[in-house]
Amino acid sequence: MSPRDKILILGASSYVGRPLFDRLGPQRAAATYHQRPLDAAVRFDSLSMDLAEVVKDPSSFSHAVILFADKNPESCAADPAGSRALNVESVCRVLDRLRQWGVTPIFASTEFVFDGSEGRRRETDAIRPVLVYGRQKAEVERRIQESFGRHLILRLGKVFGRQRGDGTLFTKWLDAIERGETIRLATDQIFSPVYIDDVIEAVVRLIDLDLSGIYHVAGGQTASRPEFLEMLLEELRRRGPFEPKVARCSLHGLGLNELWPLDVSLDSRKLVAETGLRLTDVRRVCRDLAADLPEGLTQRR
Ligand SMILES: NC(=O)c1ccc[n+]([C@@H]2O[C@H](COP(=O)([O-])OP(=O)(O)OC[C@H]3O[C@@H](n4cnc5c(N)ncnc54)[C@H](OP(=O)(O)O)[C@@H]3O)[C@@H](O)[C@H]2O)c1
Repeated sequence: MSPRDKILILGASSYVGRPLFDRLGPQRAAATYHQRPLDAAVRFDSLSMDLAEVVKDPSSFSHAVILFADKNPESCAADPAGSRALNVESVCRVLDRLRQWGVTPIFASTEFVFDGSEGRRRETDAIRPVLVYGRQKAEVERRIQESFGRHLILRLGKVFGRQRGDGTLFTKWLDAIERGETIRLATDQIFSPVYIDDVIEAVVRLIDLDLSGIYHVAGGQTASRPEFLEMLLEELRRRGPFEPKVARCSLHGLGLNELWPLDVSLDSRKLVAETGLRLTDVRRVCRDLAADLPEGLTQRR
């Protein structure tokens, strides 16, 4: 392998990082974790360590994917200084190292850099974060744009998978259904969830095509939680009549620390046009999830 062909994954123990590291493999990627050890990865605490302590051969990396973060808007709002130390200050220290080494950063940003007043946002739309978490991500975005000629800022929509127990959109609902629990559903947020495999494919293609800039990485379907739940239920009902217990409320009625933006949907047409990525249909994932369920689940009430 020629110099600068490797990818550094910072936060490879994350939900996105694990499949990305699996996909690239230890030949092509080096990886870090913080508290959840990962085979072939090294421990890196961005709060207390210098990246130079763990990266001994910086000249072998073309890109570094920055995934580590506190991605929970609620905990960021509850501890703005603590979350800023991780999400902004420690990321900026890492960026300084990457710049010194000539490594291109790939930063995982969020749909929450927008204020939610309008949906299907494009990369050219002005950002206006209203949540602490969104402001932190926006600050890093600005820093990257000011300091790096080549960079990738990937604004991810809500990522979902189909691994039971992964705690993402549909699997969380299925777990609740299986336990006979009531699904609590905020009805008024509009978003465009993206399938984890599409996120991984997007990162790999953007690297391989040597692209630079901001990309929205979100799903092709934009809807509310009740609409997404209905897509799952339609697939479950193919196996028999089924009506789970659902408690509906407004997003702002959930008693969250901040008023979350209501329409955080993103438009990923730039990503699709430039990489040829085919976004996975949400209904296909729902169909697969339903097919994997044990017989009898939909009979339970
Ligand atoms: N998942 C989504 O729906 C979504 C949507 C939009 C944007 N994003 C962004 O995408 C990125 C990945 O998200 P994710 O859901 O995969 O994240 P995640 O599963 O919540 O993982 C967070 C990562 O941060 C690491 N970390 C925490 N504290 C650290 C520290 N002090 N030093 C170094 N690493 C530390 C964790 O390491 P250990 O686990 O080893 O402790 C873990 O690898 C994040 O930047 C997030 O903001 C995610």
